Amino acid sequence: MAETSPPNHNELRDSFGRSITYLRMSVTDRCDFRCRYCMDETPQFLPRAKVLSLEELALVGRAFVGMGVNKIRLTGGEPLVRRDVLWLVEQLGALDGLKDFAMTTNGSQLTRVAQPLKAAGLQRLNVSLDTLDAANFRDLTRVGVLEKVLAGIDSALAAGFRRIKINAVMMKGFNDHQILPLLAYVLERNMDISFIEEMPLGVVHDHDRKTAFMSSREIREKIAAHYELLATTASTGGPSRYWQIPGHASRIGFISPHSENFCAQCNRVRLTAEGKLLLCLGHEHAIDLRAVTREHPGSVTAIQQAVYAGIHHKPERHEFSHEPEVKVLRYMHHTGG
Ligand code: 5AD
Ligand code: SF4
Repeated sequence: MAETSPPNHNELRDSFGRSITYLRMSVTDRCDFRCRYCMDETPQFLPRAKVLSLEELALVGRAFVGMGVNKIRLTGGEPLVRRDVLWLVEQLGALDGLKDFAMTTNGSQLTRVAQPLKAAGLQRLNVSLDTLDAANFRDLTRVGVLEKVLAGIDSALAAGFRRIKINAVMMKGFNDHQILPLLAYVLERNMDISFIEEMPLGVVHDHDRKTAFMSSREIREKIAAHYELLATTASTGGPSRYWQIPGHASRIGFISPHSENFCAQCNRVRLTAEGKLLLCLGHEHAIDLRAVTREHPGSVTAIQQAVYAGIHHKPERHEFSHEPEVKVLRYMHHTGG
């Protein structure tokens, strides 16, 4: 322990001086949707033995909060398709020191679980929603039913979730006609939205990411033709740059991994469903926490030691580009969105 502990053993800092306070945990690589930007039509899912158990996930969460992490987001795949995920939410929700506890979901199960999630201590929800046109939704997700997701969002609002954020990946020729409808939807409900540039994660065969690519600037220009957009200095600790429309509470964010590099402020690491701690979305550097926890079952210290020892491999920045098209072979549903 002595040689791997940094001087301040409570704080997690990388070799560029960035303090790591945010952990994203993928609780499953499975999903009930097949979004075109995220997966191929017949994705390969992990065998169950390779996926961390809920107990292992809770242990990793505890280890990170013990190292000063104060924000956790559960992601997938689709976190709500994992059986008994509410147990994990309760365990993490009870951790002292966790200030922000959120989940990213596709919304398909929210009518059933919004209320129990809130009761278990979940504070915030991001819901992925790329279009408000049912046929377009079905096409983009290949299988999803828009009505269920919209009902799920209503359930989340009724359960008391506030400032729900919509995540919309924009693709030319697929859903770029939905920018204004999505915006009107969030403005009416006092929700926030982030428009996201598609990232080259994994190989997809049914569209060319280069021609479908829509930059944040193009999206902003479309909005600015209809609304007054004011830049804000607001940050939610994430990569979104936020804008506002006078008279509305909604924050309008743009996540631009291609066009605006935000790595200097990076405060996060990601745990994949199979227990690899990814130090950067755009690189393969990882710490195998599944191996650690299976060798030292139940040990928080063993996890912390491995993280302290490996965190200096966190790269300075990602370098997404269209050439060569795919540098990162992981899909988003493997990584945790
Ligand atoms: N590029 C950008 N965003 C993606 N997501 C999934 N795949 C990609 C990709 N290739 C996003 C989804 C969802 C979250 C889980 O990740 O929009 O909000
Ligand atoms: Fe599922 Fe989210 Fe990927 Fe869509 S983007 S297939 S909802 S994990």
